[in-house]
Parts: sequence; C-alpha cells; structure tokens
Amino acid sequence: MGGGNKIKSVAVIGAGAAGAVTAAALKAEEAFDVIRVFERRECAGGTWIYDAAVQPHLLARPGALPAELDPPLEIPQNLPAVARPNKQERFSTTPIYSSLTTNVPEIAMSFSDARFPYGPFAPHHIPRQYIENYFALHNTDSFLVLSTTVEDVSKINHPSNDGSTQWKLTLRKYDALQDVDIWWEEIFDAVILANGHYSVPTIPYVKGLEDYTKKYPGRVVHSKTYRSPILYKSKRVLVIGNSASGTDLSRELISTAQLPVYQSKRSKTWWEGDEPPAGIEWKPVIKEYLSDGRILFEDGTYLDDIDTVIYCTGYKPSYPFWNIEKNGQPLWDDRKGKLVKSYWHTFFQDFPNLGIVGLPRVLTFRSFEYQAIALARLFANRNPVPLPSLLEQQAWEDRREEIRRQEHRKFHDITWEDGETHEWLQGFLKWSGLGTLTGQGRIPPPLTKEMVWAIENLKKYRPGGDDGKKGSNGKSAGLNEWIVVESRKRDVLGFI
Ligand SMILES: Cc1cc2nc3c(=O)[nH]c(=O)nc-3n(C[C@H](O)[C@H](O)[C@H](O)COP(=O)(O)OP(=O)(O)OC[C@H]3O[C@@H](n4cnc5c(N)ncnc54)[C@H](O)[C@@H]3O)c2cc1C
Ligand SMILES: NC(=O)c1ccc[n+]([C@@H]2O[C@H](COP(=O)([O-])OP(=O)(O)OC[C@H]3O[C@@H](n4cnc5c(N)ncnc54)[C@H](OP(=O)(O)O)[C@@H]3O)[C@@H](O)[C@H]2O)c1
Repeated sequence: MGGGNKIKSVAVIGAGAAGAVTAAALKAEEAFDVIRVFERRECAGGTWIYDAAVQPHLLARPGALPAELDPPLEIPQNLPAVARPNKQERFSTTPIYSSLTTNVPEIAMSFSDARFPYGPFAPHHIPRQYIENYFALHNTDSFLVLSTTVEDVSKINHPSNDGSTQWKLTLRKYDALQDVDIWWEEIFDAVILANGHYSVPTIPYVKGLEDYTKKYPGRVVHSKTYRSPILYKSKRVLVIGNSASGTDLSRELISTAQLPVYQSKRSKTWWEGDEPPAGIEWKPVIKEYLSDGRILFEDGTYLDDIDTVIYCTGYKPSYPFWNIEKNGQPLWDDRKGKLVKSYWHTFFQDFPNLGIVGLPRVLTFRSFEYQAIALARLFANRNPVPLPSLLEQQAWEDRREEIRRQEHRKFHDITWEDGETHEWLQGFLKWSGLGTLTGQGRIPPPLTKEMVWAIENLKKYRPGGDDGKKGSNGKSAGLNEWIVVESRKRDVLGFI
C-alpha cells in the first residue's frame, strides 16, 4: 500500500471514458483500499451507449440553465431507505445517433495502452465496447457500482483524519424488480468527478420560442433525441447550429427530408466553404418565432410551414449532486461557464481531495489519461513535485479568466495551435513523474509524432466544404469517410 498517504478510499462518479481511465490509474497506484466507480447507467460506456428508443420530446426549456432543468432530487430523511422510484428527468440517455462515427483520430482517442480495433474514425459502438473492455482489461470492472446515481456529495470533517475533509456520497439505485429506489450513504477520503458534460441539452432563448413549442407540441426538438433521418421523410426541417451535430444532421437529412434542408448558423466553421453543400440552404440566426407560426430570421427573411426544428445547440455541464450548502461554495459558475476555484482544469483550490477528469474541450480520451494519472499520483501522495501554492493557483485562474474573456473564448477550451495543449499535458507529466521503481503507478504517455500528425492532418470533414473531391488517401470525402488534409494550425481541435 502507498507510502504515508491519508487517502485510502476513492469514489469515481461516472463510468465513461474518463471514469474508465481514472479507475485504471487509481488501481495502478496500489495505494488505495477501496475504489468505487458509481455509474447511473446499466453499463459502462458513458456518452457512447446507444439508446435506440428515446422520445423525441423537448428536453430543455429555451434559455433554461442546468440548475433549473436538472435540480437535485429530494433525499429521504433516514438512510438507508426504500422509496418510490424517481420520475424526475435526469438526462441520462445519450445523444448518439445511428450513423454517428467518431471525429477524433483513433490514435488520439484511444488510451495509450490499448488501441481501437480500427480507425481513424470508427462507428459509435467501437468506443462503447472499448470503454467496457477497458474496465475488464484492468480488472477494474469489480469497482463498478452500476444503475446507481450519486445524488449528493457533501463535505464532512472526520476527526480521525487529522481534521481533513472526507466526502459523504448519497446514492440511489433503482431496483427494477420491486420498482423502488434504494437509497444509502457511503464515505470516501477522495472523490473524482468523471460525470461528463454532454447530458443536459441547451436551447437558447429566442423571442416567441416558448409559446411556439406550446402551440406546436413536438415540433421543436434537440439533437440529443435525434436518431435517424427516417422520421423526417418529406418533412420541411430547420436545423439550428453548424458544429458537429448541426453538420452531421443537416447533411444526412438531405437523404430523406424535403429539400432544401434549412440550417441556421451564426458563425463559420473551418470546414465550411462559401456555399452550403447541395440540398442545404443556410439561414442566419432566428430573431423571433411569430404567433402565426412563421420563423423570422435576423436578415428579415422568414420560413413558414416548418415541420420540425432541430436545435443542435449543444449541452451544458450539470452537477446536481454537489451540495452547495454543505460544501460552502458552488462547483460550477453558470454565468462564467467555468468551475469555481479550480486549477489546471483538474484540481480544486479548496478541496485537495477532489478532482475532475474530462471537462476541458481538448483531446478527449488521451488527455483524460494524463489527468487521471496525475490525480491518482497526488492522492497516493507520490507526486514528485507539489502543485503550486494556492496563491499561484488563484493567479492562474484569474489570469486565464481575463485572457479568455478578452479573446471571447471559453475558460475550459484548450487550444492546440498555440502550444497550449502541450503545455497543459506537460504539467501533468511534471506532477506525475515516473511512479515507483517497483512499478506502482502509471506513467504519462508520450505525445508521439505519429499522434501529432494524425491530430493535425486526419479530418472527418474536408475544410472548405469541398465534399465532392478526393482526399489524399484517394477516397472521396463523402459523409462518414475521412481525408488527409494539409495541416491547418488554426482551430485544430475546434471540432471536438
Ligand atoms: C454526440 C457526441 C459525439 C461525440 N463524438 C466524439 C468523438 O467522435 N470523439 C471524441 O473524442 N469525443 C466525442 N464526444 C465527446 C465525448 O463525450 C467524449 O469522447 C467522452 O466520451 C466523454 O467521456 P466522459 O467519461 O468524460 O463523459 P461521459 O461519456 O458522458 O460519461 C460520464 C458518465 O457519468 C455518468 N454519470 C453522470 N452523472 C452521474 C451521477 N450523478 N451518478 C452516477 N453516474 C453519473 C453518466 O451516466 C455517464 O456514463 C462526443 C460527444 C457527443 C455528445
Ligand atoms: N463524432 C461526431 O462526429 C460528433 C457528432 C456530434 C457531436 N459531436 C461532439 O459532441 C459535442 C457537442 O457538439 P454539438 O455540435 O452538439 O454542440 P456544440 O459543439 O456545442 O455546438 C453548438 C452549436 O450551436 C450553435 N448555436 C448556439 N446558439 C445558437 C443560436 N442562437 N443560433 C444559431 N446557432 C447557435 C453554435 O454556434 P457558435 O459556433 O456560433 O457558437 C454551435 O454551432 C462536441 O464535442 C462534438 O465534437 C461529435
């Protein structure tokens, strides 16, 4: 067991890619007596679980924030307890649609010790199977506590632990046989949040939209519940947004919907040309939904008789389990779109025994690995170099907030082209070191030339929207095929 560390039990919230690599990193330390991975779904896989049967009803009120849409549940008074099953929407189904393929080259998406079976862009069942297998590969499947939602995380001061903080987790497991929720509590020395941030959909506030959704029930949906274009056969469809979901959906709807498929966008992506692909008509941002059913755009044009509006406007992080009162501060600042008092997108200034893996928009799986190794090393008290002082951590946060505000960029987006991703990963390398001579602890993987090349050159979409031409791999750059393009330094990770 680990040398002199006080942390003996660690809870991980979530069994997606972040939870999978976190469990492996914790186990590799051989320093903890208890590691538990709580997962509200029936299996590991996170985002990559495909939910075929979802109701395409609107999951989000326009303009509403996760705190309103996904509030904490009421916890029964005396635990353990058996209670009526929860009926509140918890957003636990995933947004995976039938045709979805990965958009990050496989070499950068897989963890360093196991590659995807094929790539560079694989169908969605590959990462799901991969994540499940990853738990088995590391014998961490026994850590999984499935169908169990963490409903509350509260700080407690445990006298036997030198006054340092422990965490009380309130857990809810649905028992389908008896149709009841079983509630109980468990205490841990440390907690790692790996609960993802693509669950709670976001729909912007637009004048008249709320009334429109009431007047035309089912007409407005979010990409979270989109599964296939078949449902939209011969329909007049308006897609909102042009990031990954908006691009994929509008392109595949061409095959079934009435043409043109309308796509409302407010900015240009690096892969778009000056003209939309054949079958798509671009519209600007919506100004207002009028009471007569017309949809008015900012350029004064309007559409009527639209059968479906699909909001591909993304997601917002949600932490309903974080007990603000008991923990003395919120975890997430909705207004600023950032964690409260965090460091390096992974650590918390006020809670040395709390960590988060998977939040920044950067390389996905592979960067989770660096975060997980650093946290495991810190919790095992084997980090060769301490984290900077609290003052320095605070200064990092303040400085970043200011710079990002000036640049109109999000706090947790980490860029590639200016070397920020390298610097970020380098930080984890410093705090992780090599583990022990006798093999305890994982070692952060190298960022190989091969991987850098793949990140910079392998693209799912052809830049400039020139979809008909051949890529340098000889394939045509059609839907779901990949191409090699010249390295573009700007916004290399912009599609993630
Ligand atoms: C449509 C879509 C396509 C994507 N495509 C790509 C891609 O091609 N390539 C890529 O690299 N990335 C892609 N991503 C990003 C993707 O989310 C990441 O790759 C990665 O899967 C995130 O892993 P995670 O473990 O952080 O989160 P998740 O996969 O979301 O896992 C979090 C887990 O935590 C569980 N959980 C949440 N709250 C609780 C709770 N209170 N108690 C217990 N369990 C809880 C959830 O059920 C979930 O299983 C895509 C995302 C979306 C939405
Ligand atoms: N593997 C895949 O191919 C795949 C497919 C789908 C999703 N994903 C991943 O899933 C995650 C979420 O992607 P996402 O596309 O769902 O969401 P997203 O990347 O957050 O994009 C949201 C989109 O909504 C637009 N938007 C927001 N408000 C708008 C408004 N009022 N009017 C018009 N447009 C508006 C944004 O425009 P601005 O750009 O102007 O902000 C942006 O285009 C990403 O990590 C993505 O890579 C991957």
